[in-house]
Amino acid sequence: MKVIVTKNYNESCRTAAEEIIKQVKKDPESKLGLATGGTAENVYPVLVEAYKEGKVDFSGISTVNLDEYIGMDPTSPQSYRKCMDSWFFDQVEIDKERTYCPSGMNKPEDEIKLFNEKLYADKMVDLQLLGVGVSGHIGFNEPGESLTAGVHIESLDESTIKANSRFFDSPDDVPRESITMGIGDIMKAKKIVMIVTGENKVPVMKELLTNDNVTCKVPATMLKMHRDVTVVIDEELAAAAGYQA
Ligand code: GLP
Repeated sequence: MKVIVTKNYNESCRTAAEEIIKQVKKDPESKLGLATGGTAENVYPVLVEAYKEGKVDFSGISTVNLDEYIGMDPTSPQSYRKCMDSWFFDQVEIDKERTYCPSGMNKPEDEIKLFNEKLYADKMVDLQLLGVGVSGHIGFNEPGESLTAGVHIESLDESTIKANSRFFDSPDDVPRESITMGIGDIMKAKKIVMIVTGENKVPVMKELLTNDNVTCKVPATMLKMHRDVTVVIDEELAAAAGYQA
C-alpha cells in the first residue's frame, strides 16, 4: 500500500485528482469507479478545473458509482446521482449514458443485475476512488462477522447513520439500507485511490496504516490485500493515527 501524506486536505484533493487525471490521460476510455461522501466531494472541483483549463478530456470515459441509499429519489439533494451530476457530470463534457449511479428506487434484484452489468459487461474498473466511513466501511460495506463479495443490499451501521445525518434534517431521515458494490467488486479495480481526512477517521486509519491485520470489523483493512492502493491523507491525520512513513 502506498501512502501519500500531504500538507492539508486541499492538497489531498489535488493529489487524488491528479491520480485520476493521470489515469484518464493514459487511457482516455478509462472506466472510473467514483465515490461520494464529504471527503471525496472536493476532489471533483479539481477535476472540473483541469477540464476547464483544457488539461484533461473526460468525453471518452465511463463511470460506475459505489453505492446509493435504498428508497432515495435520484432528484433529491441527498441522492448520490444528484451529487455526481452537480459536482462533476454536469460540469464537464461527458457521455451521461456511460455514467452509472445505482438506483435506490428500483427493485433490488433488478438493480443488482444492472449494477453487475455496468461493473463487468465491457471492462473492469481501471481506477476506483474511495472514501472511508467512521465505521471503516468502504462503499457501504459495514463491519460485521463477515463481508459480502458482490453487489448487495446492506443495512447501515448506527455510526454511519449518525455520521451521515449531517446531510439530512434529522437522523430519522437517513435511510437504513443501501445498495453497494461488495468488497470483491472494489478489490477487482485495477487501481484504488483512497482519500481520508478528519479526526473521526483516526481509529480507522490506525487499523489501516499502523498494523498488518485484515479484519471484517474494519472493512477498509481488506485493501491491504490489493496490489495497487494509494491512500492520501493529510499530515494532521497521519500524526494523530500514529502513521510513520
Ligand atoms: C458515505 C459513502 C461512502 C463514503 C463515506 C465517507 O457513507 N457511502 O462510500 O466512503 O460516505 O463519508 P465522508 O467522507 O463524508 O466521511
